[in-house]
Amino acid sequence: MLTLGIETSCDETSVAVTDEENRVRSMTTASSQDLFEKRAGVIPEEAARKQVECMIPVLDECLRPQGYRVSDMGLIAVTRGPGLMGSLLTGTTCARTLSSVFGVPVIGVHHVLGHLFSTELAWGDEEPRTVQFPCLTLSASGGHTELWYRTSHLSGRLIGKTRDDAAGEAYDKGAATLGLPYPGGPSLAAMAEIGDKNAFLLPLPLRDDPQPEFSFSGLKTSLRTLAKRHQNIDDILKADMCASYQKAINDHLCDAVKKALSIMPETRELHVTGGVSANRELRREMTERFSASVSVKFPHTRFCGDNAAMIAAAGNRLWQNGRGGEFTVGAALALSQAIH
Ligand code: KG4
Ligand code: ZN
Repeated sequence: MLTLGIETSCDETSVAVTDEENRVRSMTTASSQDLFEKRAGVIPEEAARKQVECMIPVLDECLRPQGYRVSDMGLIAVTRGPGLMGSLLTGTTCARTLSSVFGVPVIGVHHVLGHLFSTELAWGDEEPRTVQFPCLTLSASGGHTELWYRTSHLSGRLIGKTRDDAAGEAYDKGAATLGLPYPGGPSLAAMAEIGDKNAFLLPLPLRDDPQPEFSFSGLKTSLRTLAKRHQNIDDILKADMCASYQKAINDHLCDAVKKALSIMPETRELHVTGGVSANRELRREMTERFSASVSVKFPHTRFCGDNAAMIAAAGNRLWQNGRGGEFTVGAALALSQAIH
């Protein structure tokens, strides 16, 4: 059975086709990021308008070259939230319309559940990827930073989350402070590559707190204070600031994972997902610190950021578990509706 995935929760318009083993047969993703490069963030109205424009061309580009038709699909899976309301409505309206025209069932998927499934996606004819439970997933993006402990695909609980900003937001805001373009994660990480991560010591948040939770607002303020202290920030100094700030964010993420693993010692796999999991230093550090005790896995880089393949994989699993049916769309949905 093939599943058509549609994801439009933020500034991406993504359509994908996956098979029953979560192999991605086709995927097309358009982004309106370049519109927001100079503005340090997404403008919801503009993102939704772009998505209305490119929804049909993206769908066409994903299906036509492979010879797929919507009627070949066994299921349509679409992001139902959380996210920007106008963007979510663009994707869900398209999915519901295709469902009624072609008689294919449609299922609504929580966006973060999609990220949790991104480690199970294989590209094309690659070997399918399986998961050993219990599994701890750190999902870190621009909108959320959460730790999920699962005993099976759809059962488990949230064991930690951010108290203020998300990790990706910390990257984006830090980049804005240093005059780097949006989205800040990739631009700050690129600059950090030529910097010295030990140049500045930024205070690590919640170090003595036993809970595996996150807080990034203090780090953001520390970077602002540091930047204000220097009159002329040349590229060398900027690279040092980027590397030190990236190290502080990543250390904080690793510290929370360490706390979570000590609370849940039976964990067999550690997954790191979401836009921030594309960060190479984070991958290196997570692997270095935890691979002796658990199997550490990341999604393919192309599945770290928002994409429709992860929504198709999660939707397929929900469908197999009889969790289809009517769904509402919500800008602020709780994932505990899907995982319990
Ligand atoms: O998962 P995602 O595409 O969208 C949301 O669900 O928010 O995550 C986007 C976030 C942005 O904040 C972006 O700056 C961050 O992921 N990001 C990165 C990297 N690539 C993207 N952060 C750090 N390093 C990267 N290489
Ligand atoms: Zn996301």
